[in-house]
This record gives sequence, C-alpha cells and structure tokens, in this order.
Amino acid sequence: MAKTIVLTGASDGIGAAAAIQLAARGHRLILAGRSKDKLRAVAERVGAADAFVADFEDLGAVRGLAEQILGRCDRIDVLANNAGGVFDGPKRTGDGFERTFQVNHLGPFLLTNLLLQPLLAAGATVVATSSVASRLYARLDLADVNTWNDFSPMRAYGNAKLANILFTKGLHERYSSAGISAVALHPGVVATNFAAGTRTFSRLLYQTPLKVFLTSAASGGARLARFASGRPGHDWESGEYYEAPGKPGRFRLESPLDEAVASLWDQSSALVRLD
Ligand SMILES: NC(=O)c1ccc[n+]([C@@H]2O[C@H](COP(=O)([O-])OP(=O)(O)OC[C@H]3O[C@@H](n4cnc5c(N)ncnc54)[C@H](OP(=O)(O)O)[C@@H]3O)[C@@H](O)[C@H]2O)c1
Repeated sequence: MAKTIVLTGASDGIGAAAAIQLAARGHRLILAGRSKDKLRAVAERVGAADAFVADFEDLGAVRGLAEQILGRCDRIDVLANNAGGVFDGPKRTGDGFERTFQVNHLGPFLLTNLLLQPLLAAGATVVATSSVASRLYARLDLADVNTWNDFSPMRAYGNAKLANILFTKGLHERYSSAGISAVALHPGVVATNFAAGTRTFSRLLYQTPLKVFLTSAASGGARLARFASGRPGHDWESGEYYEAPGKPGRFRLESPLDEAVASLWDQSSALVRLD
C-alpha cells in the first residue's frame, strides 16, 4: 500500500538513496534537505510530491518546515528523521544550542512533536537514523546535553546519536498506546558526504580514496528504506535500536535508562519551547 513518507536529509547520501528506493515502490514522498539545488535534483529524479528546504541549525526553519508539511497532508504514515552529521565545534547556533546536538536531535525532536497530529492520525512509524557512534563515542552527561564541556566532534556526535535512541524510546513510551511506533537504526558505515565539513579522523575515512572500503549509499539507503517500510512487531520492535536488521544494537549510557529518557525529553521540550 502506498504510504505518505516524510524524509529529512533527502538531498544527499543515505536519505537520497532511500528516497529513490521508496519512490520506486510507489510511496508518496515529502522530502526535506538543507541545500536547495541538491534537494531539487533528488525531488525531480524521484517525482516527490513535495520538497522543502530547511536548515536545522535554525529552529525557526524547522517550525517553518513543519507548517509547510502540515499544509500538505493531514496523515503521515512514516516520518524518517535522517538529517544529521558530525560537525566541528563547539558552535553555538542562533537558537543558543550546540550545533551537533541541535541538527541531530533538537531539530528532529521539534519536527516530530509539531507533526504529532498527522502522525497520530495515521498510526505512524517514526524512524531515526542513529549510529554505532552511540556506543563508540557517546559519553552523555545529562547535566550538559549540548556537550559544551569536553567537546570533541566525535563525542558530541556520539551523544547526539544516543539522543536519537533515547528519543525513540521516549516516543514509544508516550505514544505507542496511541498507535505510533518508533525505531532507531545504524545504517552501516556508508560512503556519503558524511564528515565533509570536519577535520576529524572520520573525514580521512569518508572523504579520501579510503571510502572504497565503505558500504555504498544505495545499501545504506536500502537499510533505511527497509525500516521505514517495515512492519512494527514483525520486522522490528517499537522503541528499539538496531545495529542491523534483526540485530538489536548496544549503546553506551552511564545513567539509568528510564531517567535518561525522561530527562532528555523534559530538557528538549523546554529548550525548543514546546507548548
Ligand atoms: N555515512 C555513514 O556511515 C553514517 C553512519 C551512521 C549514521 N549516519 C547518519 O546517517 C544520516 C545521513 O547521513 P549521510 O551519511 O547520508 O551524510 P550526507 O551525505 O552528508 O547527508 C546528510 C543529509 O543531512 C542533511 N543535513 C546536514 N546538515 C543539515 C542541517 N543543518 N539542516 C538540515 N539538513 C542537514 C544534508 O543536507 P544537504 O546535503 O542539503 O546539506 C543531507 O541531506 C545522518 O543522520 C548521519 O549521522 C551516517
């Protein structure tokens, strides 16, 4: 059955590859990206119903994106929060938050909450593109969710990707009884534009000839598309994080899970001023 799928980070890499594969299965796509030209090229290629530009470094743009989407549909079957990446820093956005935390977590947190009505109407699936960085690099301090202290691009990235998993669990806790399912996934180590804007060692792997050793964008996109179109309770369990299809993932968290899920949700709501 054709679904209405909202996909962020659709202008490049894993998101663009997933868009191509989901469109081939006849789904109606609403795409979001940061770069207008790149997004337009993908939208034209896949025949997307809509394509909206928004830079998640600006939460006003995220609110604008939600309004545009709300103007186009009253039901959303799948929201794939895929936009993200690793960035140098720490850098304070105009909203006052650390960029890596805002782009990877606060933006998707706000967008998802602003789209709750059409998500609830459809009994939707919310997918988060997380990462094994949540196990390898995360050292989350709940008193410093932005990672201002002891900042390194990879620690901030790991913490933000852990936040994707904690948000997935929070969504499940709050909304599974109302019909929403939530899942987080690691897409593989995929040759994309990832880490292009950093000076981290990741850049060496992703942006030099070494990238031939990585998985293709098409296979990362296939994994995202598989979770996005999968059946909760059958293909994956709601509230879970997977390192690969059928393989629940591990993540590094030093505080009790329930406390971290609740604390991150409450702090995020307050930071983005959710009514
Ligand atoms: N590649 C990997 O090995 C890997 C592994 C684990 C997890 N991931 C995750 O997979 C997701 C997709 O990454 P990718 O590998 O496909 O990298 P990519 O090729 O760099 O694509 C990233 C996507 O996110 C968008 N984006 C980046 N910053 C943004 C911002 N400030 N506002 C709005 N959109 C923004 C980009 O938009 P523009 O292109 O328009 O700038 C692009 O569409 C990310 O969440 C990443 O953390 C990747």
